[in-house]
Amino acid sequence: MIQTIAKPPSPPLYVELADSLQQLIEQGTLRAGHRIPSVRRMALQRDVSISTVLQAYTVLENRGYLEARPQSGYYVRPRLPFEIPEPRMAKPMTKPAYVSTSDLTADFLAQASNPACLQLGAACPDASLFPAQKLARLLGSVARNEPALIGRYAVNWAYEPLTREIARRYLQAGVALSHEEVVITVGCTEALNLALRAVTKPGDTIALETPAYFGILETIQSLNLRVLEIPTDSREGLCLDALREAFARNDVKALFVMPSFQNPLGSCMPDEKKEKLYELLCEYDIPAIEDDIYGDLHFSEKRPKPLKAWDRDGRVMLCSSFGKTLAPGLRVGWIFPGRWLDRVRRLKFTNTLGTPVILQKTIANFLRDGGYDHHLRSIRRAYQNQLHLFSQAVLRNFPAGTRLSRPHGGFVLWAELPARVDTHKLHIDALKQHIAIAPGVLFSVKERYRNCLRINCGIPWGEPVEQAVRTLGELAKKQLA
Ligand SMILES: Cc1ncc(COP(=O)(O)O)c(C=O)c1O
Repeated sequence: MIQTIAKPPSPPLYVELADSLQQLIEQGTLRAGHRIPSVRRMALQRDVSISTVLQAYTVLENRGYLEARPQSGYYVRPRLPFEIPEPRMAKPMTKPAYVSTSDLTADFLAQASNPACLQLGAACPDASLFPAQKLARLLGSVARNEPALIGRYAVNWAYEPLTREIARRYLQAGVALSHEEVVITVGCTEALNLALRAVTKPGDTIALETPAYFGILETIQSLNLRVLEIPTDSREGLCLDALREAFARNDVKALFVMPSFQNPLGSCMPDEKKEKLYELLCEYDIPAIEDDIYGDLHFSEKRPKPLKAWDRDGRVMLCSSFGKTLAPGLRVGWIFPGRWLDRVRRLKFTNTLGTPVILQKTIANFLRDGGYDHHLRSIRRAYQNQLHLFSQAVLRNFPAGTRLSRPHGGFVLWAELPARVDTHKLHIDALKQHIAIAPGVLFSVKERYRNCLRINCGIPWGEPVEQAVRTLGELAKKQLA
C-alpha cells in the first residue's frame, strides 16, 4: 500500500507577511522607532489586500514587534535581546526590622537637587517632558479669575471637579470609585503618610516588596514602624508564597505594595496574581496601601488595573499623584482610603489642613480640556524609548555579568552588577564626575543590594547621558580590576 504523507497546510497570507516583516525587524533592517509603510502602501508593495496587511500588523502588535500610534501609523517597538539576565529575587527576611538608612538617604536627596549633577538617581523625569507652559497659563488664569483663592484658607478634603476627573479616569481603567471617596493630598508622599498613620501605631510591622521605594522606608522610619521585606520578582512582582509565610509568622499590620510598575524593579503583577493577593489579604484580614503612581505609564495598549479593582470590603487604600505624569512641582496627589475615609480626612486636617485649591483647580482644568490623554501618550512613548536606549547603553558599557530589569512601564531601570562591585562607592566616585545615581543600599533595611543601582531614564537621551553611562561602566569595571 502506498502511504501518502499529508503536507502541512501553508500558513495564511497575513501570517506569512507578519513572519517576513518580523524577520526584517530581527535582522535590524527595520529598526526600533522606524515607521513602517502605511497599510495601503504595504498592500501595494506586497500585492495583497488591505485587510491582509491590517491582520499582519495586528499579529506583530500582539507579538510585541509593532506599536500603533493614533493618527501616525505603525512603528517598530524597541526590544532588547532575550538573553539578558534579569535581577535575582532576594531572600525572605526572618523577622521585622526598624529602618536606619536615613543618613545615606538624606545625602542622596541633597544631591538629587544639585543642578551641577546629571540626575540618573532620583526618579524625576526631565522638566521638558511636562506641559509647563500650558499649566502656567491655566494657573495664571485661575489666579486672575479667583484671587480670593489666595486670600482664603484652603481647608478642604478635595476640590470636587478634580475628584470627578480622577474617578472618571479610574473608571476607564476598570475601577468604579466614587468621587466622594477621595481625599486630595500634597503629592503621593502625603497620601502614603496618611495611609500608614491610619492603620498603624509605633512599633507595628509593615510588609513590603524588596527592593523597596526608599521614600516609603523614610516615612516608615519617621513613624517608628518596622518592616518585613518580601521577595519580589522583577517581572511579576511580589512573591505570594513568601508573603503568605510572612503573614502566617508575623503580626503584620499592613502591606505596602506597588502592583503596577514597582519602583525600583518596574515589575507588574498580572491580573490573576492581583486577585490572589487580594484573597490573601482577606484571609489574614490585612489592609493594603497601594502606590499606583506609575500605573498610567504603561507601554502596552491597556492600563494595568490597580489592586483596588478587586477590593470588595474597602481594605485597599489607593494612593497616587500627578508627580510622574503631569506636574511634579504642583504637588497634587490623592488617596482613596476605603474603610478608613473618616480617619484619613481627620489626619489630612492635622497634617496640612487642605491642598491649595488654586493648584487642584489648575489640574482639573487641564484634565477637563482633554489635553491629558494626548500628553500621556507622548510621555509614555518618550519613557519607553528612553528606557530602551538606556538599557542598550548599560548592556554595552557595564561589566559583563550585569543583570537588568525590563520594565513595561514607568521610567526606572534596576541593574544588578557583578557581586564585587560596590555601588555606594560607585555613587561617591560618580558624584566626583557630576553624575548622581541611586545606590542599591537605599532600597532595603538589610544592607542588601550593595551591587545594585537604580537608574532614572526620565532624562532625554543625548551625548551627555550616553557619556555618563559610559563613565559609570568604566568606574564599575575599575572596581573589578
Ligand atoms: C513609588 C513612589 N511613590 C511615591 C512617590 C512620591 O510621589 P509625589 O512626588 O507625588 O509625592 C514617588 C516619587 O519618587 C515614588 O517613586
